[in-house]
Amino acid sequence: MSTTVLGIETSCDETGVAVVRDGELLADVTATSMDEYARYGGIIPEIASRAHLETFVPTLNAALEKAGVALDSIDAVAVTAGPGLVGSLTVGVSAAKALALSLRKPLYGVNHIIGHLCVDELVDGPLPDRFIGLVVSGGHSSILRVSNIATEVEELGGTLDDAAGEAFDKVGRLLGLPYPGGPHIDRLAREEGDRDAIRFPRGLAAGKDKERHKYDFSFSGLKTAVARYVEGLESRGEEIPRADVAAGFSEAINDTLTSKSLNACEDFGCDTLVVGGGFSANSRLRELFAERAASRGITVRIPPIRYCTDNGAMVASLGYELVRNGVEPSGLGITVDTGMSLSKTHM
Ligand code: KG4
Ligand code: ZN
Repeated sequence: MSTTVLGIETSCDETGVAVVRDGELLADVTATSMDEYARYGGIIPEIASRAHLETFVPTLNAALEKAGVALDSIDAVAVTAGPGLVGSLTVGVSAAKALALSLRKPLYGVNHIIGHLCVDELVDGPLPDRFIGLVVSGGHSSILRVSNIATEVEELGGTLDDAAGEAFDKVGRLLGLPYPGGPHIDRLAREEGDRDAIRFPRGLAAGKDKERHKYDFSFSGLKTAVARYVEGLESRGEEIPRADVAAGFSEAINDTLTSKSLNACEDFGCDTLVVGGGFSANSRLRELFAERAASRGITVRIPPIRYCTDNGAMVASLGYELVRNGVEPSGLGITVDTGMSLSKTHM
């Protein structure tokens, strides 16, 4: 018997709806309100919530039409219950409850960070039983140990302050680049920067800190070092070598992300690393993994960029895994959990 799962994602600024049948992606439609935030220099949660309310039904209809699936042939509804922005999550969870109730189908409230890893099976084939996951986005930088993607995930470490994407966006602002700064810093560093020109500090990468925080990240010291460097030049009226700053800064973050996640693979005897989240679009991150992983016998799986940013496919894929693993549905009583623990795959 085949299983068709509807996935709904509204944790931040993307409204995503997707349909997965038996592990195959039939449709994945995303609308975003990101264009509205450039002039504010950051996401405005109130605007994001309202945008979800406006775009949800058209996005749902587009996904069903593209999949060629009628609403009443959906077997289960999966929705992001956390982590994310409270208003945005509430719109998606309310819509999912209404659908599950009217269709009389089971409802799963899923952890969208785990979805960022699970989605890779839709493009790169079945995931190994055990692997290490690295999720890097504007809100998260976490290393996870996965023993069963539906039921058994352990958070090995995460950022103590800023997420990688967040640090890029903040340094982007400092360098006068448009929001979000991440892609701009990446391009500037790659096309014009010398990554050896300025060496910025790596957080939690040496001595006692490294021992105590083996799989944790800290990027705020790095951010401050960049700010001091730029302010120093400014106060002397000197020109800021923006591309070299971008390249040195990018190198410090990507060096740490790649070393710590590959070390986790070795420490736990996993030969596969799955990477997800919007920051995995970063070209230097991909390059460093290509340079460092194969020689250590580790395969790095990174889905195409459209599946790295928030989308419905990741929620539908995790929903499908929950059904396939016989996990009890979350039920209509679920709430949203803005700070949902990464060791919890679902509500
Ligand atoms: O996962 P995502 O789309 O949204 C959430 O944070 O949930 O990630 C967006 C983040 C932003 O901080 C953005 O600046 C960063 O990912 N980003 C990048 C690149 N593309 C997106 N950072 C560095 N290099 C990139 N190429
Ligand atoms: Zn996300």
